Amino acid sequence: MKGRTAIITGGVQGIGLEVARKLASAGVNLVLADVNAAAGEAASKELSASTPAKFALTDLTNQDSVRDLVGVTIAEFGAIDYFVNCAAILDDKTFEESSPRDWQRMFDVCLLGPMYCLHDVLPVMKKQKFGRIVCFSSDSARIGQARLSYYAAAKAGVTALVKSIAQEVGPDGITANIVSPGATNTPMRMDREASLREQMGEEKYARREQAVQRAYPLRRIGEPSDVAPTVTFLLSDGAAWITGQVVSVNGGFTML
Ligand SMILES: NC(=O)c1ccc[n+]([C@@H]2O[C@H](COP(=O)([O-])OP(=O)(O)OC[C@H]3O[C@@H](n4cnc5c(N)ncnc54)[C@H](O)[C@@H]3O)[C@@H](O)[C@H]2O)c1
Repeated sequence: MKGRTAIITGGVQGIGLEVARKLASAGVNLVLADVNAAAGEAASKELSASTPAKFALTDLTNQDSVRDLVGVTIAEFGAIDYFVNCAAILDDKTFEESSPRDWQRMFDVCLLGPMYCLHDVLPVMKKQKFGRIVCFSSDSARIGQARLSYYAAAKAGVTALVKSIAQEVGPDGITANIVSPGATNTPMRMDREASLREQMGEEKYARREQAVQRAYPLRRIGEPSDVAPTVTFLLSDGAAWITGQVVSVNGGFTML
């Protein structure tokens, strides 16, 4: 993997940052794309100690911003070998509580965002006759999840998108796969848990937490370090004949 170039959206915290750390240790050139400038600067500073790493302030909901991201990556490294889409948002509401504005924002970030990226990244990969794409979905997209309906719907869209693209670009030496994590301790999950804890109170929240862990055959919530190795494998030469697949990394929460 040494000398390859990766774009990682949402690569400044959580699972994306852990993927970036793994790729940095393999000598991959990194471009981290995110709306969070402070976390982006800190992450690129950390990673620059082991590999060329750049932060590109990018809003995935803005097509011009995504164009700039692709342009900056080519100008800096001359290639895009790996594209990993981790960036996402979460909303904790029942469908009835939510509004069309909530749905639009979710679809803009979680579905249109990776679509803008892939639309601009694929021509580069096709020219190279090489590319590896990994997009993140969620187990909620596979089995549904109360209070996450439109997040789950957007993520199901990502799965369908990536599988379809995998069929179109396979002949060009490009693989495209989906990683579907179960609950993983990242800022995304921690924020949601903090608000649930506040709403429920300590006792009810503790009971809920035990029930969640019982739903996992491996009896624990995941860490970013549980998920990142699957991503690096799907980017590696060892995964050259794997495409259009959904890989659940979830402590056995779903077994589909
Ligand atoms: N953590 C979990 O329990 C869990 C479970 C299932 C799926 N996932 C999926 O895994 C992936 C990584 O999740 P995580 O928990 O590490 O998330 P996270 O919230 O910790 O990180 C997501 C990143 O996306 C960035 N982002 C949000 N909107 C953006 C935009 N418009 N443009 C650019 N960047 C933007 C955020 O700033 C943040 O840095 C996500 O796709 C998420 O949906 C996570």
